Amino acid sequence: MSNSLKLPIQRGFGITDRVDKWWTEPFWMAFALTLTLVYTTFRVTLWDGEIQYDNHRVTSPIFSPDVIHLFDLKTPNWMNSALLILWIPFGFRGTCYYMRRVYHRVFFQNPTACVVSKPEINYRIGYKGETGLFILNNIHRYMLYLAIIILSMKIFDVYHTMHFFNGTEKEGFGISVGTVVLAVESILLLMYVGSCHAFRHLFGGSMNQWRGGISGIMGGIYIKISNINVDHSFWFWTSLGMVFIGDLFVWAVAEGIIPDPYIIII
Ligand code: FES
Repeated sequence: MSNSLKLPIQRGFGITDRVDKWWTEPFWMAFALTLTLVYTTFRVTLWDGEIQYDNHRVTSPIFSPDVIHLFDLKTPNWMNSALLILWIPFGFRGTCYYMRRVYHRVFFQNPTACVVSKPEINYRIGYKGETGLFILNNIHRYMLYLAIIILSMKIFDVYHTMHFFNGTEKEGFGISVGTVVLAVESILLLMYVGSCHAFRHLFGGSMNQWRGGISGIMGGIYIKISNINVDHSFWFWTSLGMVFIGDLFVWAVAEGIIPDPYIIII
């Protein structure tokens, strides 16, 4: 007879023998993700008037890269750059390995948490992993390439904020608070993309051994990326949060509620 024990021992949604506040983390994750979805929906559909200031010197991270302005696209009045490009960050984050763990726990309750009983219906449905519709998660590696393009354009956006104009006259090259805000957002995004599991796989992931030459270099990079991959969840949340902090900052400056102090260096 088998001595194996199936955990949790008790059945019933949320029932557990755990004594810690196990629900705190999933609760705040659900709250944050719902808030970001609702905020983004309203911002890109109803409140998309003030997405930049100083004649596009600084653009909100939600609407960046501002492809309509950059490529002078002819679009209907209701269209904005976020509506054109948001599928890339959404697709990238939505298929992120860490994000899969979060939404399976937070929204599907499958599982609810370690050693915590899930809803009865989920015992009947079972967990089928990356099958059915979830097979689409395999596009993550391709979304990574698109995310790298978006990241490069965001870094260019930071550089763009450093060119100051007085009307059509060039005033100089400098730094404003907006530059710092967008730079922090880009750095956090760089760390998030740079700690991605699929990104790590590009370096030495498909090699049988890392010995000398190119394979040795690739192996070294793989290990370095692994070191920051440990904190992938941290980079996920901080980079996501900074998108909205940056958006609120740009919105407030564009509305004239707060200033954007700057210094000219050259
Ligand atoms: Fe999270 Fe790739 S695994 S971004």
